[in-house]
Amino acid sequence: MSVHDSLPHDAATLHVTGKARYVDDIPTPANCLHLAFGLSPIAAGRLTALDLTAVRAAPGVRGVWTAADLPSDCDCSPSNHDEPLLSDGSLHYVGQPLFLVAADSHLAARRAVTLAKVETEATTPILTADEALEADSRFEEGPRIWARGDLEAAFSGSDHVIESRIEMGGQEHFYLEGQAALVLPQEDGDMLVMSSTQHPTEIQHKVAHALGLNMHNVRVETRRMGGGFGGKESQGNALAIACAVVAQATGRPAKMRYDRDDDMVITGKRHDFRIDYRVGVDGSGVIRGIEFRQYTRCGWAQDLSLPVADRAMLHADNAYFLPAVRIESHRLKTNMQSATAFRGFGGPQGVLGIERVMDHIAHVLGRDPLEVRRVNYYDPAEGGSAPHLPAASPPGSISAEKKPRNVTPYGQRVEDFILHEMTAALAESCGYAARRAAVTDWNAANPLLKRGLALTPVKFGISFTLTHLNQAGALVHVYQDGSIAMNHGGTEMGQGLFQKVAQVAAASFGVPLSAVRITATDTAKVPNTSATAASSGSDLNGAAVKVACDTIRARMAEHLGQMHQCPADAVLFEGGRVRAGTAEMSFAEAAAFCYAGRVSLSSTGFYKTPGITWDRLRGHGRPFYYFAHGAACTEVMVDTLTGEYRMLRADILHDAGKSLNPALDIGQVEGGFVQGAGWLTTEELVWDDKGRLRTHAPSTYKIPACSDAPEVFNVALWEGENREATIYRSKAVGEPPFMLGISAFLALSDAVAACGPGYPALDAPATPERVLAAIGRVRA
Ligand code: MTE
Ligand code: MOS
Repeated sequence: MSVHDSLPHDAATLHVTGKARYVDDIPTPANCLHLAFGLSPIAAGRLTALDLTAVRAAPGVRGVWTAADLPSDCDCSPSNHDEPLLSDGSLHYVGQPLFLVAADSHLAARRAVTLAKVETEATTPILTADEALEADSRFEEGPRIWARGDLEAAFSGSDHVIESRIEMGGQEHFYLEGQAALVLPQEDGDMLVMSSTQHPTEIQHKVAHALGLNMHNVRVETRRMGGGFGGKESQGNALAIACAVVAQATGRPAKMRYDRDDDMVITGKRHDFRIDYRVGVDGSGVIRGIEFRQYTRCGWAQDLSLPVADRAMLHADNAYFLPAVRIESHRLKTNMQSATAFRGFGGPQGVLGIERVMDHIAHVLGRDPLEVRRVNYYDPAEGGSAPHLPAASPPGSISAEKKPRNVTPYGQRVEDFILHEMTAALAESCGYAARRAAVTDWNAANPLLKRGLALTPVKFGISFTLTHLNQAGALVHVYQDGSIAMNHGGTEMGQGLFQKVAQVAAASFGVPLSAVRITATDTAKVPNTSATAASSGSDLNGAAVKVACDTIRARMAEHLGQMHQCPADAVLFEGGRVRAGTAEMSFAEAAAFCYAGRVSLSSTGFYKTPGITWDRLRGHGRPFYYFAHGAACTEVMVDTLTGEYRMLRADILHDAGKSLNPALDIGQVEGGFVQGAGWLTTEELVWDDKGRLRTHAPSTYKIPACSDAPEVFNVALWEGENREATIYRSKAVGEPPFMLGISAFLALSDAVAACGPGYPALDAPATPERVLAAIGRVRA
């Protein structure tokens, strides 16, 4: 076995046969209580009366809690201590939990909740970005601003200055398994929590705080999630805390899972953004200066909004060098669900901003959008001597000046330029030039059905921007029969992390993968973990597991070397066998000898990402250990009579470094692309003017189905390795491919542009309705 093998997901068979165990599948003790929340009917105001008599009297109800009955404020916030579990009387959004019911069954609890008599006094909610700006309703005193260079000079020296706006919607996570938690009270007040969470340590911390316990009194176990996508970084806190409160008060186990509609109404989603831009370019489309104003609706509580908005700023450049730049970020507080982490964590919104700018520049200059992108790529050489740059740049253009084009707006030097080669390779393999010509011909000949094509790149920064989160721990045991149990702080949500890390462990001991048992994430085994997020799961936990394995292997080698008179470093672990001097034995025999020789066969491992520094206030430093890249080319067909469309073909080349498991990584790329395209096409969140989310079920919220994947879908991994010394030179792959979906959106924009002289200025999601409206606009 090689550590780079394409092995199936370790639980693939369990997934497809329905045997994989999720929180709701764990057999519960007979006396388990089931919980449900009663929710706020209004977006802003006060609770004036709450009559729960009928709720208490409802069949099967065993207890009802309001804020006053809780042992503390039971704060659920991951950041700002601004999310009491139950309303303290002030109401902040439609769906905010007001009271908690515990009953004998899930249904009994849900039915009882509806019997409450809730009286409220409504105030005017702040819903839109404009309303928030008007009221100066925000999470920081003013906008955060990062800037470099003389913007006005850049604009006045430009041949064209282009100004516009793009609005992009949020996104519901739509994990298949909804939020869920089960708490089993233990001896002496301790709590065992099973949670569908990306962040077991946070659940432990929040439950301990809510109940007034130490963290050592609370143990959290997470075997797997049926999808998280960022929606289980913080949004599982409320359920785990609620269960723990009930378990502490009653001594009975307690379980809570949200019904799908409740899940969509209660929990936070991707941040929607409005981005205003002004860009100055020279005659060949090279950017001289650019200004972004990013406005994001963060909802009622802070949650992870500040780092999400930071990451949107950090990705406002995507793959492009911005000589003079100013990025302004407004974090608006609104009476809605508290927006939270979602795959890409703000990055996709920042990237869409600049990709839209590239498209707009190309339209104004009448140039191919791919050429405009390439002349703006970060460039390794001073003065733009990279092969892709036009030989004779117009005088005075940036590329003619001898200036480095390799420093991001936040001061990190770009050192990895494979995107140049990747773009060339993808353009070649997908036949970009010929298809561009074919699309143009088609559109000239066909008045009703229009085609569109777009090739867009991704450069995504890998590391948590909160530097201290870039650490991980592991615990590895080798048993005396040679079997290995592996534990680390990462969680499995379908992405294949456990399999990749098991491959690392198996490679360290030279044993087949079957020798390594993957066990549930458990705060009692590995403490103080970070969320499995920022795509860092395999980088961090893979490295920590390798450290633990190497420690044990070194001890074994030392002992076996002494037994067989050879140096420790000459002891070989390979193919399930161990060779020491002239002796050869199975790994199991080697483990037994070491056990008998009183060698410790268990070790922890610890890893922290080297080299990163970040000053968030100044917006300066090296926040990212490295960048992951990708490029996608998508072709669409639009029916100009209805605005309906199809994705005809997508070609993707993605950079996973030296992949730990190409099969799993390709799965991540395919899924990421489709989820990204879903965000920008069919997934539309609609709130009414009372702040009620009208799209709170799959009947009204359209995620992509299998049939929405492109008819031709060619996905390949770039053959290369990480320049940085990550685990076996692999790269993180969880989030970056999400942004490849932007090519589908810009292909739609391209098809719309074929309808008329105007620029479509399409907003997202580009639902058929919006596409149709844009067609009307460009024709006018
Ligand atoms: N893939 C699946 N199948 N399910 C998920 O929930 N979450 C994504 C991504 N890929 C997700 C997924 C997100 S938001 C992140 S941050 C990464 O996986 C987390 O896992 P990793 O760090 O191990 O890549
Ligand atoms: Mo992913 S949004 O970092 O959980």
